[in-house]
Amino acid sequence: MRILSGIQPTGDKHLGNYIGAIRHYVSNQDLGEAFYFIADLHALTLLPDPADLRESTLKTAAMLLAAGVDPERATLFVQSHVASEHTQLTWVLQCVARMGELNRMTQFKDKSDGKGDSVSVGIYTYPVLQAADVVAYDADSVPVGADQKQHLELVRNLAQRFNNRYGAEGEEILKVPEPLIAEVGGRVMDLQDPTRKMSTSNGSEKGTVWMLDESDTIVKKFKSAVTDSEAEVRYDPAQKPGVSNLLELLHIVSGRSIAELEAEHDHGRYGDFKVAVGEAVAAHMTPIRERYHELMDDRAELERILGSSADRAREVASATLARVVAKVGLLEAPERAATN
Ligand code: TYM
Repeated sequence: MRILSGIQPTGDKHLGNYIGAIRHYVSNQDLGEAFYFIADLHALTLLPDPADLRESTLKTAAMLLAAGVDPERATLFVQSHVASEHTQLTWVLQCVARMGELNRMTQFKDKSDGKGDSVSVGIYTYPVLQAADVVAYDADSVPVGADQKQHLELVRNLAQRFNNRYGAEGEEILKVPEPLIAEVGGRVMDLQDPTRKMSTSNGSEKGTVWMLDESDTIVKKFKSAVTDSEAEVRYDPAQKPGVSNLLELLHIVSGRSIAELEAEHDHGRYGDFKVAVGEAVAAHMTPIRERYHELMDDRAELERILGSSADRAREVASATLARVVAKVGLLEAPERAATN
């Protein structure tokens, strides 16, 4: 069993990233062999400042380690350290992918909105690189938030199409992965607009809880969370998205059932309920934030961890690439002549 997931090093990570994805990296790391990576090649699609990208890559790695990803149990690496394999597989999958299916990707539609022909090709082919990331490691299971569901469907379709074209009947040259999306917490909503997901780029500052926010900031953001005009703490995502979002978060960080939490806060006011959620989230995030700062104080150690995992990642990805090269009919590359 292989588990794999990736996270972009764009800016700071928020509570949605943690609840929807990162904590599942941690809980899944013993279910099989786990591979988690910082998707810096994907981040290039936004043409970030180079120094910022380098810094964010280290910060994101520190965030995963602080949250509990254990480099002794999971391979934590940087995508570009295995760039040769990921990008060669991307090319092969681009030849299998169809423009129609990439045109239908909602994230592409959102990101290209209003840009017309000037939207970058990287943003367009972004999901194909993601497919290469997943198939490179023969991943069975991919823990992600609900916003990645469509990308994972594409990964499955590309892997299946590739297998149909190049494999014998029923042969799985590329593993067809299953997305692992939590029903509760798979889509954390913006606290100021609970009809929109919490997001790095499109959210409101007051409605986005950053993983590194101090406790008082977290409580303040929850205090001003938008709810509704009733006064009933009841789980009903369609009718009461704000309250339901808060109930999901409290359930996850406290480990108590939603029914129990509804009953407990039934007679209280929203104000007290919001403070209770904020305090529980703040308490949960405090040790992670403290550990993060410790890790960032020793960058050499962080770089050592990332460097030591790259070999294992390369070993697996290059075996997949060799399999693909042989199946599609490319000649094996000759050894490079020694130069001196
Ligand atoms: P990224 O970096 O945007 O997000 C990282 C993870 O966080 C999840 N997430 C959320 N979960 C719940 N609620 C939210 N509001 C929320 N916002 C984000 C995302 O679903 C994701 O799991 N394309 C990917 C990175 C990637 C990848 C991969 C993932 C590249 N290659 C291969 C899996 C497999 C992305 O941009 O995630």
